[in-house]
Amino acid sequence: MPDGPPHGHLSTDDLSTADVDVQIAALDHQSRLPGIPRLRAWSVAVLGLKPGERVLDIGSGTGELARILAEAVGETGEAIGLDPNEGMRAEAARRARHARFVAGDAYALPFPDSSLDAITCERVFQHLTEPDKAAAEIARVLRPGGRVVITDTDWATAIIHPGDPDIARVVIEAMRGGIVNPFAARRLPGHLIRAGLTVDDTGSHALIQSAAAATGPLVKMLGRMAVDRGVIDAQRCERFLEDLAAGAGSGDFHMSVTMFAVLAHK
Ligand SMILES: C[S@@+](CC[C@H](N)C(=O)[O-])C[C@H]1O[C@@H](n2cnc3c(N)ncnc32)[C@H](O)[C@@H]1O
Repeated sequence: MPDGPPHGHLSTDDLSTADVDVQIAALDHQSRLPGIPRLRAWSVAVLGLKPGERVLDIGSGTGELARILAEAVGETGEAIGLDPNEGMRAEAARRARHARFVAGDAYALPFPDSSLDAITCERVFQHLTEPDKAAAEIARVLRPGGRVVITDTDWATAIIHPGDPDIARVVIEAMRGGIVNPFAARRLPGHLIRAGLTVDDTGSHALIQSAAAATGPLVKMLGRMAVDRGVIDAQRCERFLEDLAAGAGSGDFHMSVTMFAVLAHK
């Protein structure tokens, strides 16, 4: 599973350095799975960035997408990453030297009206309590004709196999309870339309974990969360984890969640 727990449920304001390191490691792990680079490539292609344009990535995390955006707009353009988390911004600035990183919040973008050519926002809406407010901010700062791609996961699409499907379901539901806006992806077109934008296209890729995930910390943590919330007992959890590990050993393993990216213009 990618971008919910273990890091997504943390408030961005009170992260210690250690928490930021954990969050960065989780984002790096996810970036190495094929789904993220594939959907990023789709997003950048449909945005159709031109040299000289000014583009913003909201919730820029480690700066990987901002780095790609900076390449697309070239030296005459400007790529800006925005993130409320200082540790993330420092890491992003280290990785993406041709982008600029600013402190800020999706609810109050520090840019004048109609001042940006394009915007990206990847895996942030699932953490927002007021997504319509963030969409309205995007519409405000985009220039007429400006484009945006918002990407997020929809946690109803999560699959864990093998193991008892009923246990898989309660484990996924327990995990989903820790995410502010777990069905963010399906709601993106509605947010954008209500903000006055026109939706043009939707792309999708599943974030498919490798078999190594079956015995990794994430699965154990999901099982522990389900036990802590009282939805399964420790014994059934143990059995479930054993089934997953056995499946991974024989290649009979699938763990994924699907991401959707919505392109719109002003
Ligand atoms: C799951 S990470 C995604 C990072 C990056 N966009 C990516 O896809 O690799 C979520 C990011 O959103 C940021 N974030 C959380 N709340 C935010 C808000 N209200 N406004 C802007 N960014 C926010 C976090 O600091 C974190 O860097």
